[in-house]
Amino acid sequence: MGKGSGYGKVILFGEHFVVHGLPGIVSAIDSTTDAEVKKGVKGLQIKDERKTAKGYSEEKRLQQIESIERMLKAMNLDAKTPLDIWIGGSLPGFSGLGASAASSVAIARAISEELSLNLSNEKINAIAYEAEKAYAGNPSGIDNTAATYGGLMWFKKNPAGGQDVVEKIHIRKPIEIVIGSTGKVANTKAMVEGVADRKKKNPAKYDPLFKQAENLAVAGRKALESGDLKKVGDLMNENHRILQEIGVSSKELDQLVDIACKQGSFGAKLTGGGGGGCMVALTPGKEVQGKVVGAFKGAGYEYLMTRIGVTTY
Ligand code: PMV
Repeated sequence: MGKGSGYGKVILFGEHFVVHGLPGIVSAIDSTTDAEVKKGVKGLQIKDERKTAKGYSEEKRLQQIESIERMLKAMNLDAKTPLDIWIGGSLPGFSGLGASAASSVAIARAISEELSLNLSNEKINAIAYEAEKAYAGNPSGIDNTAATYGGLMWFKKNPAGGQDVVEKIHIRKPIEIVIGSTGKVANTKAMVEGVADRKKKNPAKYDPLFKQAENLAVAGRKALESGDLKKVGDLMNENHRILQEIGVSSKELDQLVDIACKQGSFGAKLTGGGGGGCMVALTPGKEVQGKVVGAFKGAGYEYLMTRIGVTTY
């Protein structure tokens, strides 16, 4: 049997904009999707035992099958290779946490082990990128990169299809965060396409917003590296406002962001594709983290307490 894992992630700056070649900042979190793969006898058998938001597995089922077929092709294997695949791990199947990329990396690693392919991380990352196309249409590559390598990183897609810019960001110590889940499953592909359509139809509105998003990522990196967490939080709030303007937030996401800010979070924003899914609140120190968690619980939302800058790269 082959085994593999992939990290979940939160995007601190630049989701959606990264698809268009602007920079983003992403951190892996210390929750993983794990996979086990055995050579099968009849087609693709998938046992998905992840804890998920209601309807997540059903909604993603066809995309999941397509993603595995894409991976097999990228490995030069027959897309109908019979495999028994188990998926589990500590990363919940909530939209926005890179769960699809984490599962693709985990499955690719497990297939590599089971079939003795001995694939490098670079190859696993490229295979997971192919898989992401099934879920995201035109993915930036930020999710699979974080899922493969872990760590806190600056990411800029190469729109020409060549090497992306991936740089490690150093911070003094890990920072506590709270991830709030709306409980709503989101379709990343539809969200990404919606932004691209609206941008094309209304460049007068969207071009300046894209420029602002780029400036925020640059400023966010500086603030993280200099340890100015108040500034990081302010910039995250600003990023959330821009995401609202490009039409990817939702009532629940805005409510979670509001709650977090009222409880003393340094800053909060939706994370990932939006339209449901998750948000992230920057909550340095256990006290603020605990207060935000308490308020999320009180309002009936699920959450994940974790830290950024923990996993290595
Ligand atoms: O919602 P998630 O976890 O799939 O994140 C999507 C991030 C986007 O920037 C919206 C898309 C991408 O490929 O970068």
